[in-house]
Amino acid sequence: MTTTVIVGAQWGDEGKGRIVDVLTNHAKYVVRFQGGANAGHTIVVDGKKTVLHLLPSGILHENVKCVIGNGVVIDPEVCLAEIALLKSNGYLTDDTQLTLSLGAHVVMPYHKLIDKLREDGAGGSKIGTTGRGIGPCYEDKVARRGIRVEDIIDENRLRERLEYVLPQMNLYIEKVFGAPTFDFNEIFDKYLKFGAELKKYVYDTVVLLNMAVANRDNILFEGAQGTGLDVDHGTYPFVTSSSTVSGGAASGSGVGPTAIDYVLGVVKAYTTRVGSGPFQTELDDAMGRKLRERGGEYGATTGRARRCGWLDLELLRRSSMINGLSGIALTKLDVLTGFDKIKVCTRYEDDLTPHYIEMPGWKEKLDSADSVEKLPSNARRYIEFIQEQLQLPIAILSHGPARGSEIMISNPFKS
Ligand code: GDP
Ligand code: IMO
Ligand code: MG
Repeated sequence: MTTTVIVGAQWGDEGKGRIVDVLTNHAKYVVRFQGGANAGHTIVVDGKKTVLHLLPSGILHENVKCVIGNGVVIDPEVCLAEIALLKSNGYLTDDTQLTLSLGAHVVMPYHKLIDKLREDGAGGSKIGTTGRGIGPCYEDKVARRGIRVEDIIDENRLRERLEYVLPQMNLYIEKVFGAPTFDFNEIFDKYLKFGAELKKYVYDTVVLLNMAVANRDNILFEGAQGTGLDVDHGTYPFVTSSSTVSGGAASGSGVGPTAIDYVLGVVKAYTTRVGSGPFQTELDDAMGRKLRERGGEYGATTGRARRCGWLDLELLRRSSMINGLSGIALTKLDVLTGFDKIKVCTRYEDDLTPHYIEMPGWKEKLDSADSVEKLPSNARRYIEFIQEQLQLPIAILSHGPARGSEIMISNPFKS
């Protein structure tokens, strides 16, 4: 086994960063392939919490190479701040640990402004974005007027690209929103400086990763967001602007799909969603609040309270199909400890109302469980039911936020 793709199987925040951290021990490369600083991946090591928005979660392991692929949109300001923060915490001591793709698109200040202006004026159509400029940046990419990493590290290219795109953006900002426009020189100088600071990390990551594939090095692809937020397969238009599904790992990194060996879907033991959009199993009641409090369900990027509800197997079956899941990593099982009854949506009725079955809960803490056999019998019933319903093996079971609070049932890199 050489390559594993990790994707969120729900609406994000499933615990992808935490699972990447567990598997990084077995990987030589960890690669982000889509999204940008809208992600918030939390990792807890020795009681210390780190939240990564842009850099791959593998960066906390010093012998692992981390790559930001061409499919990611990079906000240089966030990138440099994250690099500085990691360094001040004793990580990233060797700059060759991080590589940024020449072809990744750059989030510009007008992207962030447009994201905000649109949301402010959207009323009931608000998507509830993270405000990180993600949508407008991907729009420019597809409209072929984007600015890429290769442009900000070259003065002439940046001038040429910015001269082409900025007047269009300024016109849009002024005419549509009546908002103040951007000054060419200010952006040009600022982004040229960012480019100079980031240049040492920039490389042709397509070549780098395909050499790693040829070498049979273990590669972990770290998805951001989740399948329900995928621009094609999610709950459109309440989605993000990238391909969050496993197929995105190929186009977003330049590694062919035939090189992908295993797709691991990260599934939270219940469901959460941040921002607007449909959520069939949402609990807008005391039970939902209980899940939120016990699970600490507040956004890692925006601090917003996450909407909470029961596990939705209908959503997960579709997610499994679209991603071609090989197995799942089930997270936050500990959060369900103490509930008398746990509901699971097994299917939707004709009008999309969820049909639930009720399962008995468990009271025992899961902290000390280092094997499935040591879990309380009702917790075992819960996970067996999930596996049976989804026809998928649970490869990793997480019952706490910290490194070590997991049960490795079958390691994707060794299967
Ligand atoms: P990501 O975006 O998919 O990486 O997930 P987030 O980091 O946004 O949200 C997951 C949250 O749950 C973080 O605060 C993690 O520290 C925490 N977490 C992950 N796995 C577990 C687990 O098994 N149990 C508990 N209690 N917390 C967990
Ligand atoms: P991680 O990687 C949860 C949601 C936003 C909003 C929609 C569009 O931590 O799982 P965007 O800023 O991307 O244009 O917002 O997508 N969203 C996320 N929700 N986890 C995330 O990332 C998310 N990234 C974006 O809340 O509904
Ligand atoms: Mg998150």
